[in-house]
Amino acid sequence: MKNLMDTYKIKFTNSSGYKNIIVGIDNNFTLKDGSVALEAAVKSRIDTFLSANSQDKEKKVLNFSLYENGIEQVYLVNVDEKDNATLIERFAAIGQKIRSAKTADIALYAWKDSASNGTLLPAIEGFLLGTYVFKGYKKEKGYQVDFSGLDIVLADAEQTSELTTELDEIKALVSGTFLTRDLVNEPANIINPSGMERVAHDLAQSGEWKIDVLDQQAIIKKGMNLLNSVGMGSVEKPRLVHLSYRPQGAKKTIAIVGKGVTYDTGGYSLKPQNAMYGMKSDMGGAGTCYGVVSAIAKAGIKVNIDVYTPLVENMVSDRATKPGDVFVGYNGRSVEIENTDAEGRLILADALSYAAEQKPDCILDMATLTGAIVIALGDEIFAAFTKEEEIFKGLDAAAKLSAEKVWRMPLEESYKKGLKSDVADCKNVGGRAGGAITAALFLSEFVGDVPWCHLDIAPTAFSDSNSALLPKGGTGNPVRSIYRWLKSQQS
Ligand code: BES
Ligand code: ZN
Ligand code: ZN
Repeated sequence: MKNLMDTYKIKFTNSSGYKNIIVGIDNNFTLKDGSVALEAAVKSRIDTFLSANSQDKEKKVLNFSLYENGIEQVYLVNVDEKDNATLIERFAAIGQKIRSAKTADIALYAWKDSASNGTLLPAIEGFLLGTYVFKGYKKEKGYQVDFSGLDIVLADAEQTSELTTELDEIKALVSGTFLTRDLVNEPANIINPSGMERVAHDLAQSGEWKIDVLDQQAIIKKGMNLLNSVGMGSVEKPRLVHLSYRPQGAKKTIAIVGKGVTYDTGGYSLKPQNAMYGMKSDMGGAGTCYGVVSAIAKAGIKVNIDVYTPLVENMVSDRATKPGDVFVGYNGRSVEIENTDAEGRLILADALSYAAEQKPDCILDMATLTGAIVIALGDEIFAAFTKEEEIFKGLDAAAKLSAEKVWRMPLEESYKKGLKSDVADCKNVGGRAGGAITAALFLSEFVGDVPWCHLDIAPTAFSDSNSALLPKGGTGNPVRSIYRWLKSQQS
């Protein structure tokens, strides 16, 4: 699966002669030393600009036209903050600016010690993330950007093999994020269940991943009737894609499960039209899994990983589920379908009990599960539901390194009463109040005693506004957090 990132050329260099340059500045609003590769004339012009604009001292990211020594634009970023999230955010803003400036010729001048003190790589990560654009289907073909890569001018540091490996990992992470963004942005007539399955086959080919696809027949045979009940209303048949990764030397086995509703009409509990538009993004959980798979396939980590993506299109037809229907899931639990629009939890239920059967060390699921969590957390923070203190701590730390934001929500057992049904073991909705919590509680019935964490990524997977890290459309959030958390589980 090629994406925009895979077309970029990124290299370390010590040459000069670039039209556009990015340099670091400090809290005193002066050029960060270490950018010694710059000619004296250019340096002094930058100094002059900074002292003439000292009223902008509070600005962390700015640029100006230079036209000196062949340099046209200078981008200045305050790099005095050492935390990754701040650096990623600031450089993403630069990446976004440069994407629309349509320039091919760009160099990042590494500031003093940036390669060794850990500030250079988050800068590169942020910059690359900011350059994303969806290829789309306009008559004028292509990405419509001239930007084709980044040269990193290393003045004070050697290009070590460690640095190269770290850069490769950043490239893998950005590429995985771009894959997820592309998958969410693709229309639902292209990325339908068979489209997603094709992507999974491509991913399996590119790395050391084994793939096993359960088609509708197998799903029915295994008794995954909850999964089937959501997908059976569409000519696009449901499937469960299982990708597995067994690197040498791995000790832990972690399962990740992603909601893959390639379109959510709501079914017979039909969504109103303004709520339906955008529901091509309802495969964001599965898309996130594939982004993580892509990153791991390129970078490699020492953890056994099983990825389960139930894929369905939630449609209306003579074969679709009707409100009030009852189905028995893979783990034997019967569920009354009160609302066919609460479909994500149904397909996850069967995928989770299938994953739990293998007794992994833990299961992490991700899903654009509820509108309720968007109301609770707004559009920049996704939710984690887990009883495992350690898992949450690890995820939170990974998110902080990635400029992504997670908030822990309660699994309040007493709210389970909302899921009581008159005719079945439970029903699939628990009322409007605490809707994200009852959805998570529903899922908890299908994981047995395997340590488990549920991520409701409805707030962040898809964005209506356009910021550098959460671009309009698919955001690829939280691919990088999950990759980093999985990596932290290496032993
Ligand atoms: N896919 C939606 C959740 C969603 C809403 C994601 C908005 C992204 C943005 C999910 O399948 C759904 O429809 N949930 C219902 C549940 C309700 C019927 C209990 C919801 O949130 O309204
Ligand atoms: Zn729904
Ligand atoms: Zn949905």
